[in-house]
Amino acid sequence: MAYNLLKGKKGIIFGALNDMSIAWKVAERAHEEGAEFVLTNTPVALRLGTLNELAEKCSAQIIPSDATNLDDLEKLISGAMEILGGKIDFILHSIGMSPNVRKGLPYDRLNYDYYQKTLDISALSFHKVLLVCRKLDAISDWGSVVALSYVAAQRTLYGYNDMADAKSLLESIARSFGYIYGRDKKIRVNTISQSPTMTTAGSGVKGIDRLLDFSDRMSPLGNATALECADYCITLFSDLTRKVTMQNLFHDGGFSSMGMSLRAMTQYDKSFRDCMGDGD
Ligand SMILES: NC(=O)c1ccc[n+]([C@@H]2O[C@H](COP(=O)([O-])OP(=O)(O)OC[C@H]3O[C@@H](n4cnc5c(N)ncnc54)[C@H](O)[C@@H]3O)[C@@H](O)[C@H]2O)c1
Repeated sequence: MAYNLLKGKKGIIFGALNDMSIAWKVAERAHEEGAEFVLTNTPVALRLGTLNELAEKCSAQIIPSDATNLDDLEKLISGAMEILGGKIDFILHSIGMSPNVRKGLPYDRLNYDYYQKTLDISALSFHKVLLVCRKLDAISDWGSVVALSYVAAQRTLYGYNDMADAKSLLESIARSFGYIYGRDKKIRVNTISQSPTMTTAGSGVKGIDRLLDFSDRMSPLGNATALECADYCITLFSDLTRKVTMQNLFHDGGFSSMGMSLRAMTQYDKSFRDCMGDGD
């Protein structure tokens, strides 16, 4: 259902690769809610993915850019203002990639060049987007910037590897820049910590199917889907959340507040009995 929450608002959406991407769902929902926006991704992603299809569906233009490259970002942000005819009201940063995860290098045997790439792509790019926007005075007062994070920023989850460090940094950047941008321009900066979700980036995480199952069973409301994440993003882009800033907002069905559930306790008892040889 659409509520016209973003009527008249202009945005930039980073990170839609294909129709599984969280950013794809955000773009579809933002379009339904009346927003106009520019879509962006790297030239390689544009070749490998299906962003043109989304652009057509949402009547949006695409500007290619590598979010780690300041020149690309300047071209993107000034180009978006030109296309949309004014300042930007909302930005989605939906970008993540770890060459260490891709190459299967475990945390105690990381390649440091890859590690720096992970941090640059998945966290510093958020700082760079905010920095270039500020330099170009590109975001309207009370604008809203959201990046997507994961609970591995706070807790160790097997297999998430150096992406956990990137997410911690990402969340810290949201607080540090949120202070400066809030103080000077009333611009909101937040991260949403989303449930594990089956996307191209998600499927790179070791044991993602078991992680998805575990967190689904452990969360009282079950895992949040990509579409539900998109709904939450829309509320943060809307005028209904004008005083929310510098927050990491968990969108995970309650997972991050759980320790032990009745279901897990029952399963634990059962496996423990089996292990001790007195199970049935
Ligand atoms: N899928 C999950 O389980 C999950 C859970 C929590 C948070 N997240 C986060 O959500 C965000 C979106 O990921 P997704 O799951 O939709 O996967 P996805 O693979 O669809 O999206 C990741 C995007 O990052 C883009 N990207 C990579 N390098 C880039 C660069 N240098 N410049 C610009 N874009 C670049 C990719 O092209 C891709 O579009 C990521 O930040 C991810 O960490 C995902």
